[in-house]
Amino acid sequence: MIVTTKQLFEAAYGKYAIGAYNINNLEQTMGLFRGCMDSQAPFIIQISKGARSFTHKNMLEALIRAADGIFPDAIFAVHLDHGDEATCFDCIASGFYSSVMIDASSEPFEKNVEITKRVVEAAHAKGIVVEAELGQLGGVEEHVKVDEANAKLTDPDQAKTFVEKTGCDSLACAIGTSHGAFKFSGSQGLHFEVLKEIQKRLPGFPLVMHGSSSVPQEEVRRINAAGGNLKGAKGVNEDEFAHAATLGVTKVNIDTDGRLVWTRVHREFFRDFPEKFDLRDPGKIFMSEYAKFIAHKNEKLGSAGQLEAVRKLVK
Ligand code: G3H
Ligand code: 13P
Ligand code: ZN
Repeated sequence: MIVTTKQLFEAAYGKYAIGAYNINNLEQTMGLFRGCMDSQAPFIIQISKGARSFTHKNMLEALIRAADGIFPDAIFAVHLDHGDEATCFDCIASGFYSSVMIDASSEPFEKNVEITKRVVEAAHAKGIVVEAELGQLGGVEEHVKVDEANAKLTDPDQAKTFVEKTGCDSLACAIGTSHGAFKFSGSQGLHFEVLKEIQKRLPGFPLVMHGSSSVPQEEVRRINAAGGNLKGAKGVNEDEFAHAATLGVTKVNIDTDGRLVWTRVHREFFRDFPEKFDLRDPGKIFMSEYAKFIAHKNEKLGSAGQLEAVRKLVK
């Protein structure tokens, strides 16, 4: 059943966070649904601009509709990840997405407000909810390049003004993470003090943590042992999700970790079975490993076991 992120946030706020997982293909879709059913968790499916153009924007929609039929008990939102204004409008018009993210965080504050407001008005008119972003993550985003050294954490006072001016439904805050597999060097970590100040000014308002992959060191080791080269990869401590949830983080975005599972499975498979060439052989292993990975993340986020409680609220 497709619901809005707002409905999921109402159930989760202050207690746990909902996992928001990016998908690009059939195997990820099946693994995601299986993992969330195995762990009895509500979830958010994220589709990036790159995912929409990987095959055709209608392809992932068809896969998700099929999965919804195969797993009739699943409860999830369908969300555009890091949209620009044109893509947001396209998703709003499609009638399929229950939630969009407008990412105008690279623009000056007033311009970010202006663009976000336009998307909020169009989305709300159709019952679709909007995530916006203020502050800049380090690392590389799809259409924005920000040097990690210049990453700008979200200003708590600006966050309050931004939410009031735009009417957005949730806010992605920069609290020290970045996208990809190389997040931190040295002793850097999450800036909980910033999160606390934002929650003080916006009590009860759902916050979103991007760049939340934990880049498990065992996964990196196995990838490198099977021919990969991911030296120095490092991520967020997944044991910190629970604390972040108490400070208002209700959506945690995870993409890179899933890509690492894919890379490990396929590198090890072709190393161990050089004579094989049936794509379904590693594909089956990947779906099973991805489902396990998703169930594990949902445990860490606290969303595991919440499915029936959420069903009562959204009915
Ligand atoms: O934040 C970016 C997400 O990981 C999506 O990545 O734009 O390569 O699909 P992508
Ligand atoms: P990771 O690169 O840490 O998985 O972050 C994903 C993300 O923020 C998608 O919007
Ligand atoms: Zn992101």
